[in-house]
Amino acid sequence: MYRLRNWLISDNGVSEEDMLQNGNRLMTGNGYLGYRGTVSEAEPSWMPAVIVSGLYDRQGDLWREPVNAPDCLYAKLFVRDEPLMASGENVLSHEQTLDFRYGIYSRETSWTVDGVSVTLHAERITDICNVHRLCMKYAISADAPVTITLKQGINCAVHDLNGPHLGNFRLDKDEKNGLLVLDADTLEKAVPLSVACTVDVAGDVVCGTEVSGEGAFHVYTIKADKDKRFDFFVYGAVYSGADTAEDCGVKARETALSSLAEGWESILSGHRKKWDEIWLKGDVIIEGDDYAQHALRYSLYHLHSIAPRHAKSLSVPARGLSGQTYKGAVFWDTEMFISPYFLCTEPDLVARFIRYRIHTLPGAKRKASEYGYRGAFYAWESQESGDDACSLFNVTDVFTGRPVRTYFRDKQIHISADIVHAIRTYINVTGDTEILKEGAMEVILECARFFLSYLYYSPEHDRYELLDVTGPDEYHERVNNNAFTNRIVFSVFETVQTCVDLLKKQDGGFIEKLFAELSFDTDMAFMHEVMKKFYLPQPDSGNVIEQFDHYFKLEDCSLDTVKSRLCDPREYWGGANGVAGNTQIIKQADVVLMLVLFGNEYSDEIKRANLAYYEPRTEHGSSLSNCMYAQLSCASGNSEWAYPFFIKTAEIDITGTSKQFAGGIYIGGTHPAANGGAWMTAVQGFCGFSMNDGKISCKPRLPEKWKRVVFSVVYNGEHIEVTVTKDGYSLCMK
Ligand code: BGC
Repeated sequence: MYRLRNWLISDNGVSEEDMLQNGNRLMTGNGYLGYRGTVSEAEPSWMPAVIVSGLYDRQGDLWREPVNAPDCLYAKLFVRDEPLMASGENVLSHEQTLDFRYGIYSRETSWTVDGVSVTLHAERITDICNVHRLCMKYAISADAPVTITLKQGINCAVHDLNGPHLGNFRLDKDEKNGLLVLDADTLEKAVPLSVACTVDVAGDVVCGTEVSGEGAFHVYTIKADKDKRFDFFVYGAVYSGADTAEDCGVKARETALSSLAEGWESILSGHRKKWDEIWLKGDVIIEGDDYAQHALRYSLYHLHSIAPRHAKSLSVPARGLSGQTYKGAVFWDTEMFISPYFLCTEPDLVARFIRYRIHTLPGAKRKASEYGYRGAFYAWESQESGDDACSLFNVTDVFTGRPVRTYFRDKQIHISADIVHAIRTYINVTGDTEILKEGAMEVILECARFFLSYLYYSPEHDRYELLDVTGPDEYHERVNNNAFTNRIVFSVFETVQTCVDLLKKQDGGFIEKLFAELSFDTDMAFMHEVMKKFYLPQPDSGNVIEQFDHYFKLEDCSLDTVKSRLCDPREYWGGANGVAGNTQIIKQADVVLMLVLFGNEYSDEIKRANLAYYEPRTEHGSSLSNCMYAQLSCASGNSEWAYPFFIKTAEIDITGTSKQFAGGIYIGGTHPAANGGAWMTAVQGFCGFSMNDGKISCKPRLPEKWKRVVFSVVYNGEHIEVTVTKDGYSLCMK
């Protein structure tokens, strides 16, 4: 059972289910590597993983997914050939803890063997200073004489959802330095990956090596006794050809050896210092509500542990670096749910996300042309090239095991508009127009062009419409005029206009040249025509906006009724035969999301009417949903109603109770979008914070319990501390 205390989360569970949950709950990461919170002797079925960001591979015709590197912090104890496992029957006590202020994982386990108790205390970090580095302190003690064997080294028997992904293994040992190095290549594109580790041990131990199909290990024989402790310091390194042009093997060797020379204490101290700096800019203090405080900080920790500070152009997958679910792909989650926090605290990171979309523009253009459109249709599930990893059959039927046709890939056209929205917001908040010249303007124009070629002119209504789309609510596929999609696509056209005007003022030559290169003049003229007659669904007489054409005609039944129709709890609710499809039950915030994003255009009455209508009809089957209902409720004056939705969002990776399956497909892992949603609700929702066109403002509407909220934002390049109480707010330079 987990316990949450000040900056600490612990769990003493030992079942297979606990091991899986703690893998997410206690994970550490640095934006490059994600190390799951499993014990160092983990069985593959407990899903240990060292996920390398930006490195993907495909095995046969299975789904492409991120590569799980061999584990260089692997360690397993034995007494007389019997392994000491966290799940063993001879366990006296076991606890794993994550210090989420400093990203330090620790575990303490005691076993009894023939009346002797053996204790292991281990700590490890995924170094946030040198992102290629993994370090562990591993301390063994006993209360009476006993001979213990420790097998430590590089374990290749990794868990993969759709693997294996590595081959051509080459092992190198350097006995003098106690160094083990494993070089391998990915199977699909032969990208090199190297893992190295070395050990510093204090105490009298005998060491040998063991090389097998499972990996390369040091084997230590330890004569343990009362009052004797054996400390092992393991220094590991991971490099891949996706992140360096240099020789990965050489880099991994050098890093492991230089870490050995530097030593655990110094590395740990640098790591802590960097986390202190991160929290200086990124912390949010909530006074009066300890649970909300811990849950929000824990959410922010997860965002920082996947923030790609090391790369100029990289984004974050929908399940962070917590595993291979969702193919390690980047979704709209980054732009709409994760970017807002970083935009206010570390805008450089958002520039990296935007550059990732600039670099994957060719993939988006290929996708548009594959479907017969012009411009850029971004991948619904994007990997390193921008080609869509989303399959046409993205869910498995739980009854037949057969693939189910889904239209996420073909019809969630809003993805291209979400990206433009994020670019526009970035420019609005930071004033940095250089990014437009780096390629973001081309992204905007190509996305606009895609929508211009996708839209449909209805002669009956004399208006432009968007037909056959899927909105954020994936349970209703292939609908016409999804209100959210229409509004956000319209904002793409508005963005083209705004950015063109801006650039013309600054540097007319640039935009002229770009228009000529892309032959955009005709598109621009057509866009102006379209804007005059573009259909934006409006509220009805009861102030409710219909989610898409004829939505109100679908069966209007309760969520419980729809649930009662399920024959299997893991059934997929959408698709051709899903229980929600012919009803008004929706998966996640859709109209509500539109009202949050374009809040200035709608009255409080409209916001309240839509909340009241859609909330009882929402399953919140996506982790992206609750935070939007919470924000709209705050914006329309009801923070108390918003509070439980905030808590559900902020505690999602603490409780681990979110959906684990979509049809037959495993979707567990961490939830960065919800982590970002927790910040949005606390800061933009409860504090009513906004930063638009160079102006900061707050409209406090704190929940009853909250006395004061303090957070930081970057404003004109300066760090400003914002303090919000129930009665007002103040700003102070940091
Ligand atoms: C949601 C999408 C989301 C994806 C990844 C799905 O369940 O419906 O909106 O982008 O998960 O988080």
